[in-house]
Amino acid sequence: MSEPTHVRIFDTTLRDGEQSPGASLNHQEKMEIARQLEALGADIIEAGFPITSIGDFDAVHAIGRELERATVCGLSRCVARDIDRAGEALKGANHPRIHVFAATSKIHLEHKFKKPFEAIKQISVDAVKRAREFVDDVEFSPEDGSRTELNHLVDITAAVIEAGATTINIPDTVGYAVPAEYGRIFSHLREQLPVIDEQGIVLSAHCHNDLGLAVANSLAAMQGGARQIECTINGIGERAGNAALEEIVMAIHTRGDYYKQYRTSVNTKKIYPTSRMVSHLTGLYVQRNKAIIGENAFAHEAGIHQDGMLKNRSTYEIMDPRDIGVPESKLVLGKHSGRHAFRDRVQHLGYKVDDATIEKAFEKFKALADKKKDVYDEDIEAILDEQLESGSA
Ligand code: KIV
Ligand code: ZN
Repeated sequence: MSEPTHVRIFDTTLRDGEQSPGASLNHQEKMEIARQLEALGADIIEAGFPITSIGDFDAVHAIGRELERATVCGLSRCVARDIDRAGEALKGANHPRIHVFAATSKIHLEHKFKKPFEAIKQISVDAVKRAREFVDDVEFSPEDGSRTELNHLVDITAAVIEAGATTINIPDTVGYAVPAEYGRIFSHLREQLPVIDEQGIVLSAHCHNDLGLAVANSLAAMQGGARQIECTINGIGERAGNAALEEIVMAIHTRGDYYKQYRTSVNTKKIYPTSRMVSHLTGLYVQRNKAIIGENAFAHEAGIHQDGMLKNRSTYEIMDPRDIGVPESKLVLGKHSGRHAFRDRVQHLGYKVDDATIEKAFEKFKALADKKKDVYDEDIEAILDEQLESGSA
């Protein structure tokens, strides 16, 4: 079997992620996250949008100079002063990339630019050429790409590649695409433009989660030929957010049987600590049932599930929590729990008690669990102590 293809992970937590309402970060916080993203194994880190603020400029500048392995990217509109500012911010960076974007969908052309497609194509070509005066690594995004006419996508992709773009990103800016349709855009571009494969141009997916399809769309793009996926930690980003890095990476990792042609360079054991750091520094809480990194992602309450887990964890767990950096799964004791899990917890708490005591304590535990949402270890200890005292009296 041939070697799996490396799918680059382009993390935009510090740019698109920081655009989440209420998520702004100070300089030190951005530096801390950037270092963690490099340690995590992200290939490209979009560190900011230099023209928008001094803070973004400084972050791109400092991160670009400090990081030794990851490519550091600054975003720019197809506007000369934006590109110059991004180029200036990336001066001295170890692996700099400028990412230029211009909207190409009919809706954006008519309502935002009030310009025809051909004019936007020329602006894009000029922008890519200008960016190439600063760096060799230039990414181009036709914003609202998934709602752009396919022939326009092919046309602008060919033109910007000729102008020097090395990565072509097709954003699903408003999270409108569905997987098969989005994946098809990538295979279509590769069919129509042999230059993509001949010159090693990287196609990239960038999905928003308005319909909850960002990760599914990113994986479909990968199957269509995308070799870069843009995503954020915890899926933070504009509106419903961006594709979640942890979900993409763990889907490829866990379903290695299905996605055997692909690999990422992410160290999965660093996913959970990175998620906690981003949540803590942005102040954006992770929902309890969030896949991979939510508090309940490895918690089991139902008696049948707990019983299965105690016999063999693969009955109800498809991932080992330690692979993500989560120390262990939790068997949550609540009203749905059974005797097996209760006995296991009692033993774990250090009690050596006979079956009759366990049985009586279990009845009391069930009665309590019916009234109380969470039953803590302290509650179980209190039940057992009371039981043991009344037994010895
Ligand atoms: O969603 C989007 O279109 C973007 C572009 C700037 C790539 O974030
Ligand atoms: Zn975006």
